[in-house]
Amino acid sequence: MRVVVVGGGISGVAISRAVEARGCSVTRLSRSTGFDVLRDDATTALAGADVIVEATGRFTTSRKAATQFFTGSTRAIGRAAGAVGAHHVLLSIVNCMRPEVQGYGYFAGKTAQEAVARSVSPHLTIVRSTQWFEFARQNLDRMRFGPVALVPGMTIAPVALDAVATVIADVAVGERSAREIEVAGPDTTTLWTMTKALPGPGVTPVPLPIPGRMGRAFRGGTLLPARETEVVGPRFQDWITGK
Ligand SMILES: NC(=O)c1ccc[n+]([C@@H]2O[C@H](COP(=O)([O-])OP(=O)(O)OC[C@H]3O[C@@H](n4cnc5c(N)ncnc54)[C@H](OP(=O)(O)O)[C@@H]3O)[C@@H](O)[C@H]2O)c1
Repeated sequence: MRVVVVGGGISGVAISRAVEARGCSVTRLSRSTGFDVLRDDATTALAGADVIVEATGRFTTSRKAATQFFTGSTRAIGRAAGAVGAHHVLLSIVNCMRPEVQGYGYFAGKTAQEAVARSVSPHLTIVRSTQWFEFARQNLDRMRFGPVALVPGMTIAPVALDAVATVIADVAVGERSAREIEVAGPDTTTLWTMTKALPGPGVTPVPLPIPGRMGRAFRGGTLLPARETEVVGPRFQDWITGK
């Protein structure tokens, strides 16, 4: 089984490791390996793939920029997957499509991305997870302004990225076959609590209470999974103490 993971971030590394552990051959493609999904010929780059995992990302709060990036990535990968006869596996986020959070441009982009994937990919699985444990540090990097970093008020049920990667490996080798899969971590917490638990954050975290309907939705649990959502991986507290 030949698996191509598009996206070189922390998720690309974790997914490649999990898929390799199943005995698949894995290639990672991103700009740092010479492949730009928005510019290069994806059908040529993805030729020979049985499974293509789309784990590209660009952090932006702009609806326009997020929509352009995520739909552009998925249109290219979905069409290429159809052309080479591969299974397209897309990473997404639990509840990113909820109307109360569409004011957050990144989530509007993810919602548009899912719609494009459904329309262009003949063989598609969308794997949605809640925010990863690693998201606390990603947020500090993305929201850093000099010596401080802003931490939006968010109530979430975070999940270990390695546990999500294992689910994606199950999908890649055909052990799971649903068109949409949702997973979450075992506990409800806040991004602030997770951030305060990080060893050596390297920056001073500052709470950012987002105003209005969207801020209330983030704080009030709109991003929490439905009660019946599959729980995977360790508890955040056990994960962080093992780091
Ligand atoms: N973070 C979370 O908690 C979370 C939770 C659930 C789902 N997700 C979803 O999982 C996906 C991956 O998230 P992430 O946090 O790992 O993403 P990320 O770190 O923002 O980006 C992943 C990689 O995408 C690659 N990339 C960016 N532009 C590209 C381009 N034009 N062509 C090819 N590759 C490009 C980059 O590698 P290069 O610089 O080498 O190009 C980057 O390392 C996203 O769709 C995200 O929404 C994230």
